[in-house]
Amino acid sequence: MLAGKTVLLIIGGGIAAYKSLDLIRRLKERGARVRVVMTEAAQKFVTPLAAGALSHEPVFTELFDRAAEQDIGHIRLAREADLVIVAPATADRMARMVAGIADDLAGAVLLAARVPVLVAPAMNPAMWTHPATARNVAVLTGDGVAFVGPKAGAMAERGEEGIGRMAEPTEIAAAAEALLAAGSALAGRHVLVTSGPTHEPIDPVRYIANRSSGKQGHAIAAAAAAAGARVTLVCGPVNLPDPAGVAVRRVETAREMLAAVEAALPADAAIFAAAVADWRVASQAGQKLKKDGNAIPPLMLTENPDILAGIARRGAGRPRLVIGFAAETQNVIEHATAKLARKGCDWIVANDVSQESGIAGGVMGGDRNEVHLVSAAGVEHWPAASKAEVGHRLIARIAEALAPQEN
Ligand code: C5P
Repeated sequence: MLAGKTVLLIIGGGIAAYKSLDLIRRLKERGARVRVVMTEAAQKFVTPLAAGALSHEPVFTELFDRAAEQDIGHIRLAREADLVIVAPATADRMARMVAGIADDLAGAVLLAARVPVLVAPAMNPAMWTHPATARNVAVLTGDGVAFVGPKAGAMAERGEEGIGRMAEPTEIAAAAEALLAAGSALAGRHVLVTSGPTHEPIDPVRYIANRSSGKQGHAIAAAAAAAGARVTLVCGPVNLPDPAGVAVRRVETAREMLAAVEAALPADAAIFAAAVADWRVASQAGQKLKKDGNAIPPLMLTENPDILAGIARRGAGRPRLVIGFAAETQNVIEHATAKLARKGCDWIVANDVSQESGIAGGVMGGDRNEVHLVSAAGVEHWPAASKAEVGHRLIARIAEALAPQEN
């Protein structure tokens, strides 16, 4: 998939820059043309001479380089690439990307790029877990930037361990390949995603809700848009920015969600990541329920429509790929397999949302997820990763499934 493609590799200033030299080789091995931009700080770790010798191309380092600008300016560098990779991406570089700062060549290229961007962060675990970095990752994810890593392991700093190691060059090259493959398979396709909880009103001020944050569903929508699909995101009440390039339909209740999903069809693939309330209050009070006397108002519930099952069981107009989610607290695979049959969908993305899931901070509302992809073909276990990475991986699989079969 990288054959004949031009990858623009931006090497940032971190000790992991030495691995980016190997990344150049891995990308070229897969048939890519690699053009390298190095930041000033990167040159403290590796030399343009080494990057140039491996890429067989001149290396670009200056925003205002008269010789280079006459020949190839930053806009052309951005336009002539099929993919931009930032590796290593420092905390500082990601903050600059969020703000759109373009005071060096890397920043200007990133601002001018209209192609997929893949970021491989590398930094000390304290910097990676800092709220500022977490915020920046969330914004970039929403902007459609793809992430690979960072991984857990030993740091360059003696004796330090934690999440912050740059992904290995082979992993970055594989992620680049998947991103471009998804791009060609999803161009012109319509992907529908549901995300977030639903709110089921009890009276004008009270409602029944659940702990879904919408982070996984939004990450899937962002990944689909980044891969070039037309994306409709139907989402319940969430505290998340709208992913870039996505048509967002905001709803409150399950019934509104169903109506918005139906209005958005037809779609090539539909991913139901929303945590839809199973029940709603049978008769919603028109006025706020008052606490008068001792009588406690009874809450009569009635079943909500099952959006996933309804769409999956359609004859005409059924999306080619219908994917459900299963949040379980025990016997995850068993329940997911049963759900696949019960709902009539093609795949179930199952995750363990119990406190014992091993994901620090929990899956609900957290930034990481560990899922199993359950389909008629069997069960695949995916290692714990950020919700953004899970989103990109899922979109890559969807792209594979929708791609015309090559004979
Ligand atoms: O049955 P359960 O709620 O566990 O199934 C979860 C899956 O079904 C999720 O994909 C969810 O989005 C979908 N669902 C739905 N409509 C409902 C309930 C669940 O689309 N009313």
